[in-house]
Amino acid sequence: MNLTLKVWRQSNANAAGKFETYEAKDVSPDMSFLEMLDVVNEGLIERGADPIAFDSDCREGICGACSLVINGIPHGGHRGTATCQLHMRHFEDGETITIEPWRAKAFPLLKDLIVNRNAFDRIIQSGGFVSVNTGGTPDGNAIPVPKTDSDLAMDAAQCIGCGACVAACKNASAMLFVAAKVSHLNLLPQGKAEKDRRALNMVKQMDAEGFGNCTVTGSCEAVCPKEISLSFIAKMNRDYGVAALKGK
Ligand code: SF4
Ligand code: FES
Repeated sequence: MNLTLKVWRQSNANAAGKFETYEAKDVSPDMSFLEMLDVVNEGLIERGADPIAFDSDCREGICGACSLVINGIPHGGHRGTATCQLHMRHFEDGETITIEPWRAKAFPLLKDLIVNRNAFDRIIQSGGFVSVNTGGTPDGNAIPVPKTDSDLAMDAAQCIGCGACVAACKNASAMLFVAAKVSHLNLLPQGKAEKDRRALNMVKQMDAEGFGNCTVTGSCEAVCPKEISLSFIAKMNRDYGVAALKGK
């Protein structure tokens, strides 16, 4: 396949950015999208040009590092698929592909296609943990967890913190990410002791980071590579409301 890439290049957060055009030649349909970019970068390096900066780590849909808006859609628009799991066979020979970074005030751009997602880490630090006595190892069967709760908690725990939900949202809301993290722990017995504090603190930190409000457009759920359900947002709103009424 031969492709034309229109790639957002920006040397730092304060510099002016613009699209640059590159030709990607002899691309195998079996390559992943990131492998295709690796090949383009090898060509740029050989010519002494600055390679395109983009994020990745595991390249198997686990870590949440990859973060590209491809043809206007975070992760490229294939259901349940992170950028690193996207393959070139989904594109047409001769196609022009536009590649941009996540765009949100709370994710300041670092370089080209890389943004700073530390805001998510700070939200996790504000409540995404359980305080436990780490003495003896408890018998797993000693804490019964209803099957429906464990299934829901594991669904929420699939969130890889990629930030596509923010990038897709017209309000740059982080509600789907925060709801997944709050629900993951609040549903389990180990997390219940800090349930109210967690909901209040994580929402407070989310607001402090400058993420927008949720108006339930559903774009977050549509692009989420882990298909986190919007229903977790409703659940977090309930947890938050109850905690606020208790004044905790
Ligand atoms: S909710 Fe989905 S889109 Fe948002 S950070 Fe988690 S995995 Fe990524
Ligand atoms: S590189 Fe780890 S999820 Fe894509």
